[in-house]
This record gives sequence, structure tokens and C-alpha cells, in this order.
Amino acid sequence: MAADSGLVPFDPFELKDVVGGTVRDPYPQFHRLLRESPVHCGEIDLGADEEHVNDTWDPDKPPPVTVFGFDEVVQVLKDDETYSSCVYADVMGTVMGRTILQMDEPEHKAIRDLVASSFRSKMLARWEEDLVAVVVNDLIDGFVADGHTDLVRTVTFNFPVQVIARILGLPRSDYPRFQRWALEITSVAANWERGMAASAALRDYFADVMEDRRAHPGDDLISDLVRAEVDGEHLTDEEIYSFLRLLLPAGVETTYRASGSLLFALLNDRAQFDALYKDRSLYPQAFEEVVRWEPPVTVILRRAARDTELAGVKIDAGADIALMIGAANRDERKYTDPDRYDMFRTQRQHVGFGFGVHVCLGMHLARMESRVDPEAEPPHIEGMAFRSPLSLPVVFQAS
Ligand code: HEM
Repeated sequence: MAADSGLVPFDPFELKDVVGGTVRDPYPQFHRLLRESPVHCGEIDLGADEEHVNDTWDPDKPPPVTVFGFDEVVQVLKDDETYSSCVYADVMGTVMGRTILQMDEPEHKAIRDLVASSFRSKMLARWEEDLVAVVVNDLIDGFVADGHTDLVRTVTFNFPVQVIARILGLPRSDYPRFQRWALEITSVAANWERGMAASAALRDYFADVMEDRRAHPGDDLISDLVRAEVDGEHLTDEEIYSFLRLLLPAGVETTYRASGSLLFALLNDRAQFDALYKDRSLYPQAFEEVVRWEPPVTVILRRAARDTELAGVKIDAGADIALMIGAANRDERKYTDPDRYDMFRTQRQHVGFGFGVHVCLGMHLARMESRVDPEAEPPHIEGMAFRSPLSLPVVFQAS
């Protein structure tokens, strides 16, 4: 595996602290800051050492803005003319290439329309039916006889990347190196050189795959992207590479974290676990509630395209804006008992998948089922910008 990218092997878990941080509970600070004001201008103190959300800023730039309130976050995401996504070009654009995440209208819509067809229900049906279950069952087979496992290491960490590899139609023998590149790109903040090398390696790898799919189209996403056409427009090769690179952090990191947090929530609440176990039709609301309660990504970014004002706070053109979707999802003005995981709550609207034109493209794909056993040691969720449990040890009756 190491030979693929010329780097020494590494344990992906060595990255955990660097990527996510180790904050156990940022929510008291989120509540405190939101109560002070739903929108803050200038540096903010989240009261933890590891986090880097607008805690320092370049004095030559306009003061950054941090938004904690639900309605205020939605207001920003609705107004994509005032609040641009170009802010993502700085770091993510360098490692992934120009993706829809950093584009504004009308360019964003033109490209998103070209890729979106592959994520619509008809296409998803073929993936959901025989793909997710097969991958998860394979992984469960790996430990089912043992009587104990760590669900993060054996299931949640592995399955999203395998699902994406299958969606892309990659051969099984390529999974290990694909998973490695995915992790290296996802953890680019922890090791810039390694992330950039993985980005280049993936481009070369996808170039070969695309050539093959042009000659022999198949029933997979890369064949769809090569064929995609709206109003006579096709995606360029560079647009396809960038989109595929975006799918890794967007689809792997988030889904593994959300599945882990869902298992965590259910393992800690026997009554809700039993309710879901008995009635699988509750699954959509159980999953939606975890994306509200512990969104795997707690902050997304925008940049003010012009001078404006939000909740009475002046924002200068060019200011970077951190939208604390983790705080917004627990806004006491909107939710009763916001810190409780409650799949039966009536207020289910949330911004864990974002909102507006950039709302998560993969959210339908992300809504998947996993199975758990309730006899676990008490684990915990941690991280600041990215949050999830890093271990879920369980014991169960071996079959
Ligand atoms: C629980 C799992 C997931 C969560 C919580 C999540 C969250 C988000 C959020 C908050 C955004 C908006 C970013 C912004 O506006 O700045 C987003 C965008 C996006 N997500 Fe997800 N995501 C998840 C799973 C996935 C999956 C499985 C895929 C694909 C395989 C995916 C692909 C994308 C793409 C392509 C975008 C960019 C859309 C655009 O800019 O128009 N996501 N996601």
C-alpha cells in the first residue's frame, strides 16, 4: 500500500486529534455566545485550545464574523449573492481543484445540474438496494464471530469509502489505495504535502479510469459523469477530477462521523434504541435527528461579497464568515431541550446538511441504515470543527 503513494504506512487514527480536535463538548460555549448575540464580529473565544474558528485574524482583512443563530445562518445561506462561497477556494480549491463548493451562481448551478442527475432517487435506488447492505454485511462478517468489536474501526470508518468506491465502479483490488488517498486528502490540514501528493495521484488514477469508461461505459458514477450533458454542455476532464476529489472528504468524512454519532446516541439511550429496533420506519427521523444534534461538520464558510448587516451587526465586504451550523442546530429559540438527542421531537428542521443552493448533494445517499448492539462501554463524541466518536467498543453474542 505504501508504494502507491511513495509514503510510509500510517494508522489513520493517528490523525484523529489533528483533524477534529479533542473538544468533548463545545455546546455550552455555543449556547453562551448565542445568548450574547446570534452574530459576533471580530475574534471570538470558544474557550478551548484546539479550535481555530475565527480566533485570530489578519489585521489587513476586514474583521471576521461568526454566526450562531439558526435564523441568521439560514438568512446567510439563502442570500448567495451577498454571501459568496469563493472563500473555499483558498485551501480546499488548492487541494481539490475548482469544485462546486467554491462556485457562485450562475456557474455553480450549471455544473451542479450536470452532476446532480447521478444523485437523484432513480440513480440512488440502484446503489441503496444492493450496495450499502452488501458493504455493511461484509464488514460485519469480519468480526461477528468475535463477540466484541470497535464499531468505528470495523464498520463506520470503512463503509463510506467502500460505498463510494463501488459507486465509482472501482475494482476491489484498488480499494486499499483509494481509501488511503481519500484519507490523505481529507486530512490535508494535518499534512499538506501528503494531501497534495494524494490529490495528484488520484488525478492520474482517475484519468486512466475515465479513459476506460469512455471506451466501455458502465453502470457507475464515472460513466455518468463522462456522459453527463445539460443543454449541450459536458463536464471537462478537469471538472470531473475536481468533483471526484470533492466527493472524498464530502462523502467519506461526514458519513463515517454521522454514522458513529448515530450509533453513539442509540447505544446511550436504550428506549430509543428499542423503539428503532422494533420499528425500522423510524430510521429516517433517527438519522435526521443525529445530523441536527451532532452534525459531523459544525462550521461552514462564506465571504461577504459586499458591505451588509446581519442581526444588527455590520459586515464589511471581503469579511470571512463562519456559520456555526452546530450551534444553530441547538438554538434554544428554536428547539425545546436542544441538547437532547430525541428522534421523536416535532421540530425536525435543521441545517446539518447546509441550506440553499449548496445544500448537501449527497444527503440522500447519506441517509443509510446501520445495525448496533447495545452492550457498550460509555464512549464519547469529540472534535471542534469536525465531531464524532472515535471509538465505539461493543460486546455482543457471537454468532
Ligand atoms: C451525514 C453526512 C453528510 C453531511 C452532514 C453533509 C454536510 C454537508 C454540508 C453542510 C454541505 C454544505 C456546505 C456549504 O454550503 O458550505 C454539504 C455539501 C456537499 N456535500 Fe455533503 N454531507 C454529508 C454527506 C455527503 C455525501 C455522502 C456526499 C456524496 C457522496 C456529499 C456530497 C456533497 C457535495 C458534493 C456538496 C457540495 C454541494 C454544493 O456546493 O453545491 N455529502 N454537505
